[in-house]
Amino acid sequence: MTKFKKPTKAVLSDAGFGSRFLPIVKTIPKSLIPLGNKPAMQYIVEECVHAGIEEIIIVATPEGKPMYEDYFTNPVPRMRALLESQGKMDRYKSVEEILNFPKITVVLQDPELPYGNGSPFVSVRDMIDEDEAFIAIYSDDIVVGGEGAVKALMDEFDRRGGEISALMGAQETPGREVEKYGVIKFKEGTDEVEFMVEKPKMEEAPSHLAVYGRYILTPKVFKYLNKDETGKDAELWMTDAVSKLAGSDGGVYAVTVADGTWCTTGDPKGWFMTQLKMVMDENKYADEVKEFVARY
Ligand code: G1P
Repeated sequence: MTKFKKPTKAVLSDAGFGSRFLPIVKTIPKSLIPLGNKPAMQYIVEECVHAGIEEIIIVATPEGKPMYEDYFTNPVPRMRALLESQGKMDRYKSVEEILNFPKITVVLQDPELPYGNGSPFVSVRDMIDEDEAFIAIYSDDIVVGGEGAVKALMDEFDRRGGEISALMGAQETPGREVEKYGVIKFKEGTDEVEFMVEKPKMEEAPSHLAVYGRYILTPKVFKYLNKDETGKDAELWMTDAVSKLAGSDGGVYAVTVADGTWCTTGDPKGWFMTQLKMVMDENKYADEVKEFVARY
């Protein structure tokens, strides 16, 4: 099995229409919607930085690109000057934290590619060396609490000595929940993935182990992310590509992440529950919020 270099780059996709979240996503990209005082995307950047990632590439929509560039680079000098004159520089610290992140590049999805969650990653193919593995993230999936999934994937990459085709974060999912996700089937009696099915009916699901939006991919996956290999709804699916990779090359494994809670924020209900979980976990407001919820 080919040995790949450990990831130093993370590709974070927010290039979809996010139509479950219309109308707000008409103007604000899905992962710039805040959870508390930070956008979802920032939690993901922090998870990557914590795991030692040195370069972040965000794949955005044409509307989203300038907003991400502003968010991650604008030092808002007018605000800084006012806060300084008022002796409130402690409030500016959170802006400095953002400005100190490692290199963040925002790129557009290749307009020639079909719609689908595989396309943002093919769009940055030229930014990835042939022998390097990279982190790939759907930026509407947040890990609340704990070290996050990127660190767990990096540790697993080390444990396997870089000899992989792909690694993915996974979690046991109860009952009908499984119908919302990509679901894993292992090769009999091994820890190697045989294939994945996207959003199966519960009765047909090969397991209850759902993939969440965290992968370590190798450039091998690009062989199966061609614009004429679309699947369901004429979209280009990462699930299909990784499934084909598992079937042909092998070396695809899943990592169950127990440290932290996987929350999906890509629709208003998921976003609201994530927000609530974060607030309940946050000591400062937790008791008041619990009391408020109990009262109503
Ligand atoms: C996407 C993927 C799916 C994965 C899920 C995790 O689905 O297609 O395989 O399990 O993210 O959140 P979506 O959330 O876009 O419906």
